[in-house]
Amino acid sequence: MIIGIGIDMVKIEKIQSAIERLGEAFLKRVFDKKELKNISKGKMYYQRLAARFAAKEAVIKAISKEKPLALTDIIILNKPNGAPYCEFKKKLNIEIFLSITHLEDYAVACAVAQRRR
Ligand SMILES: CC(C)(COP(=O)(O)OP(=O)(O)OC[C@H]1O[C@@H](n2cnc3c(N)ncnc32)[C@H](O)[C@@H]1OP(=O)(O)O)[C@@H](O)C(=O)NCCC(=O)NCCS
Repeated sequence: MIIGIGIDMVKIEKIQSAIERLGEAFLKRVFDKKELKNISKGKMYYQRLAARFAAKEAVIKAISKEKPLALTDIIILNKPNGAPYCEFKKKLNIEIFLSITHLEDYAVACAVAQRRR
């Protein structure tokens, strides 16, 4: 059963300036080690981090009726074919369907939450 959907859009500049100002402190407050390991500091670094920020916010919206979650409870990774997926740090009986897109200036993510049978 679908329990909710969520969407979020993030300006890349906002994430980039937070990282440039706060560095590790910001990265640790928002991202898991597994997420940071998955994103190399090359082309699209800020876009991909911003997209994960948007994905976390989209997931929070999708499951807001069920459970309040923090950004760090949600881990966004990629399958071998590049498709994004979501893991939770807490044990939740919820599956997330996720889609991400990013351009030069903005990143957008959409999440659908479904209760596992
Ligand atoms: C996968 C694909 C849809 C990504 O689209 P894009 O416009 O290049 O890039 P977007 O910014 O919209 O999306 C990038 C995100 O798509 C997601 N993505 C990548 N592969 C995916 C897949 N197989 N399934 C679902 N999502 C995928 C990732 O989350 C990625 O962001 P991330 O690397 O930061 O995690 C695209 O590369 C593709 O394969 N298109 C098929 C058509 C085609 O081959 N066109 C080229 C010839 S005209």
